[in-house]
Amino acid sequence: MDATCLYPADTAAPGDIAPLLLAWYDRHRRDLPWRARPGETPDPYRVWLSEVMLQQTTVAAVTPRFLAWTQRWPDFASLAAAAEADVMAAWAGLGYYARARNLVKAARAVVADHGGAFPRTEAQLRTLPGLGAYTAAAVAAIAFGERAVVVDANVERVVARLFAIRTPLPAARPAIRKAADTITPAQRAGDFAQAMMDLGSAICTAKAPKCLLCPLQSHCRAQIEGVAEALPAKAAKKAKPQRHGTIFWLERDGRVLVVRRPDKGLLGGMRALPTGPWQDRPPGLADAPADAAWQMRNTVVDHGFTHFDLQLALAVASADAHHAADGEWWPIADLGAAGLPTVFAKAAAAIMRRED
Ligand code: ADE
Ligand code: SF4
Repeated sequence: MDATCLYPADTAAPGDIAPLLLAWYDRHRRDLPWRARPGETPDPYRVWLSEVMLQQTTVAAVTPRFLAWTQRWPDFASLAAAAEADVMAAWAGLGYYARARNLVKAARAVVADHGGAFPRTEAQLRTLPGLGAYTAAAVAAIAFGERAVVVDANVERVVARLFAIRTPLPAARPAIRKAADTITPAQRAGDFAQAMMDLGSAICTAKAPKCLLCPLQSHCRAQIEGVAEALPAKAAKKAKPQRHGTIFWLERDGRVLVVRRPDKGLLGGMRALPTGPWQDRPPGLADAPADAAWQMRNTVVDHGFTHFDLQLALAVASADAHHAADGEWWPIADLGAAGLPTVFAKAAAAIMRRED
């Protein structure tokens, strides 16, 4: 090494990173149910579905749901023919329910407008419902081998460290994307993207990255400068507002009243327990679904949404045939099959535990 070259990274070029990472991936890749094994052709439907499921949900939580989903709807044609209500119920618990609505819409568009096959390029993919920049790039790269720059939260962390980008997120995103572009190879862009994700999940972890095991160690500015764990920096989060609501549990003959939420708005189109308004103060019995002898439980249920936290009071009553109420009387023993979003499933569980 000559005297001006103090650090290995001074001699490293961005182009050196992909071959090292791909060699690591060939030895250590995770065997996941949506991934093609070496030599297999990826199935665009499975790649797309997995990328949508994985956007806000962990690999561990997605894996069993992906397997059940692909048993039931193995391809675009079967998903396009599914009833939207069944798809929404099958998504229950995964959160961000617009993703499920867009899956059906996109499957129908693929069948109606694209002859049943996904288009291959990022630009064409982006015309489909729910395919934003991330999903279009991921599908183009992983399913079709197109060169696309795929940046999810794992990739963001790895790239911020490799280039020691100190600007806090989210302001650092354009710089991270540009840096990611400089290391994305023309060949095997899909494997490269998944290798970055696997590295971020196993080695370049948010806390205590395992730099000693990392194939990119000698190319990593953050490791060389001793700041790996501190990156990426994050801008301070705003406190979430606290809202309050009431869940109404109306029981009759072993059944409970279940309603469908309006198509527009939060949890739109999902089955739900009736609730009144969600607002700054507890709303009590406002908008109860029937005029009944409501009893308030002593426990409350807390749930965090993206933009606010919600605390729910629980009101319980028995109905008789005179109580007019719109909705379905769902067998309580079979409530798991209703496909309730997590917030309502939590409330139902708290009521059925009879905690007070
Ligand atoms: N997270 C998002 N997409 C992924 C993939 N294809 N493999 C592993 N983790 C992921
Ligand atoms: Fe991440 Fe450390 Fe590898 Fe750098 S050397 S990419 S910080 S694990």
